[in-house]
Amino acid sequence: MFEISELTRPIVQAPMGGGPSTPELAVAVSEAGGLGFLAAGYKRAEQVSLEIEAVRRGTERHFGVNVFVPSPKPADRAAVSRYMRELAGEAARLGVELGPARFEDDGWEAKLELVCEERPPLVSFTFGCPSAETVRRLHDAGVSVWVTVTRVSEAVSAAEVGADALVVQGTEAGGHRGGFVDDEQAAGIGLLALLSLVRRSVSIPLIATGGIADGAAVAAVLCAGAAAAQIGTALMLAPEAGTTPAQRALLREAIPTGLTRAFTGRLARGMVNRFQAEHSAAAPSAYPEIHHVTSPLRAQARQRGDADGFNLWAGQAHELARERPAAEIIRTLAADARETLAATSRRFAG
Ligand SMILES: Cc1cc2nc3c(=O)[nH]c(=O)nc-3n(C[C@H](O)[C@H](O)[C@H](O)COP(=O)(O)O)c2cc1C
Repeated sequence: MFEISELTRPIVQAPMGGGPSTPELAVAVSEAGGLGFLAAGYKRAEQVSLEIEAVRRGTERHFGVNVFVPSPKPADRAAVSRYMRELAGEAARLGVELGPARFEDDGWEAKLELVCEERPPLVSFTFGCPSAETVRRLHDAGVSVWVTVTRVSEAVSAAEVGADALVVQGTEAGGHRGGFVDDEQAAGIGLLALLSLVRRSVSIPLIATGGIADGAAVAAVLCAGAAAAQIGTALMLAPEAGTTPAQRALLREAIPTGLTRAFTGRLARGMVNRFQAEHSAAAPSAYPEIHHVTSPLRAQARQRGDADGFNLWAGQAHELARERPAAEIIRTLAADARETLAATSRRFAG
């Protein structure tokens, strides 16, 4: 079974659904001694299967597949309808219909079957805790299991069901909050504080994620007890990433990020644009319904290159992203982390 200590460079590529994660990015990161990841979220199992095949063609090294745990129950219909009325003007402006407020499970069973059959070295879960039985099923197939957590109680639950490691996500992180519930505490806390608290509560390896974009930050989380650093936004300008051109053009600008449910009905961090600024206050907690409702709006805005009309997921350190091949980004982060650690340890020499 995969062990995080097997990585030459303790850096994990964050799974980034909705475009940025590609097989090419995963291959490049794994070949550079880090751990590449595929994002299965929003995709059909058949497409994920093709992506696994593509990664295996590109590398013999380890990689992971990220799967969304489904929401337990449909959202409040009245809240969804209210928000749909709020978005009617957006739809009219773009000349599209709002999507249907569909409640579904992102192909949960089909994806579980797929990963048990394909046996990637590792599967990580987001948006919930898999059952002990699901974890056992994956272990029986020889697949390691990671669970994304955003608070101490989630870390304890994930350790109890038998997770091999935890992805500890600080509030700095780009994209969705990966915790188990989208409640009033879903915004979470800062990565260093969360790492310290989780480290005291569980004894399995921790992968730190959220706002890590240079070597010094990689060194910092390893010093704080993480077994590896997971980076997302810092890879979004790599040529191997599937980041949209409109977001690429803005990623290095000093644009503030904020947490919002406006695009998907689940709290997520994005660079604040017009849509996010105008609709965050009214958006209910209703995932995946709102994700489907806004889907035609976002697709149309993306097609027009209108960066004010779709989600610009990014972590708080997005300005530090560099337009470099992914392998070079991984190698530079690792070399800079090493240098930082050596220089820092000299400060304690006396
Ligand atoms: C564009 C984008 C898409 C994301 N999609 C996913 C996803 O599909 N699954 C997941 O577990 N996390 C997802 N995340 C969160 C990342 O896994 C990770 O927690 C985050 O990127 C870390 O913060 P950073 O972007 O500041 O490095 C996404 C993040 C971004 C920026």
